[in-house]
Amino acid sequence: MNLVNQLIVFVIQFLPKRLVKRFAMRYIASEKLDDAIRVMKFLNLKNIMGTLDVLGENVSMKEESLLATKAGEEVLHSINENHLNANLSIKLTQFGLKIDEEFCYSNVRSLLGIASRYNNFVRIDMEDSPTTSATLKLYERLRSEGYENVGVVIQANMRRSEGDIQRLISMKANVRLCKGAYMEPEAIAFKSREEIQLNYLKLLKMLFDAKCYVGIATHDDFLVSGAYQYIQEMNLQKADYEFQMLYGVKIKLRDQIVADGHRLRIYVPFGQHWYAYSIRRFKENPQIARYVINALFSGD
Ligand code: FDA
Repeated sequence: MNLVNQLIVFVIQFLPKRLVKRFAMRYIASEKLDDAIRVMKFLNLKNIMGTLDVLGENVSMKEESLLATKAGEEVLHSINENHLNANLSIKLTQFGLKIDEEFCYSNVRSLLGIASRYNNFVRIDMEDSPTTSATLKLYERLRSEGYENVGVVIQANMRRSEGDIQRLISMKANVRLCKGAYMEPEAIAFKSREEIQLNYLKLLKMLFDAKCYVGIATHDDFLVSGAYQYIQEMNLQKADYEFQMLYGVKIKLRDQIVADGHRLRIYVPFGQHWYAYSIRRFKENPQIARYVINALFSGD
């Protein structure tokens, strides 16, 4: 990110939340589950699958994690009641990973129990580097105990990811592959766009070669074309992979991928804790951050 953009994103954190919210709603279905369900119905009508995420992370009290677990359960019930083609994405720090790993594990297991009942699936998002090992450990434990309806995320910007994928391959993991949304130090993360793209394609090939189901999560045209090429060369079937994109980002690309005959899932976040998520999205697209600043000064 250049200096001007860095400054804009920095300044945004001091603006009234009310103003930031107006722009954040581009990336967030709503604060309420009912609205998120409506968005999901609309996507399903367009032949697009979904994953719902109840916003929240870095919880420090067990009560909050228990509330998050309840909210996740409600989402799974609601998906089932509404016959939606959608699953659930969760962040482990919302379920108590930083409080007590055993407590977090039992919360996630209770979600997986409900998901299994409905023949549904839970994806564990990947957060910043201090949580990577604990997240993978929890995922591996769930798999070793027989839970098949759970997937994990690998970030191509992390230098460790190749080694992590070697281990995940041996258990035929269902992996969402993304670039990585968190600011990480150079010692542990690739920093240049080209290095991250190259690593992404290398990791994607490893997963495809090992016949793991992959969620190809990106809006980067270069990576989408790279994935198309692998899919063609390796003669992969639709059931072997899906593309994934974030709600509100690159609608044209989304529709093109669907028109090209691929399965596509949209990540739809909703809920009251929209602020941290939105700031991360602004960092990825400082143009939006500029709109917020302009609106402030134009009195819009
Ligand atoms: P890149 O950032 O280069 O974007 C390519 C183009 O897409 C940009 O040039 C711009 O045009 C557009 N674009 C991208 N982001 C935009 C935005 N916010 N607003 C408007 N336009 C935008 N990360 C993580 O660390 N852990 C996780 O669990 C997940 N989960 C996840 C799920 C799904 C479904 C997706 C798509 C992404 C994630 N991510 C994630 C985020 C991911 O790591 C990454 O930060 C973003 O996807 C941006 O990277 P791209 O590959 O899209 O490329």
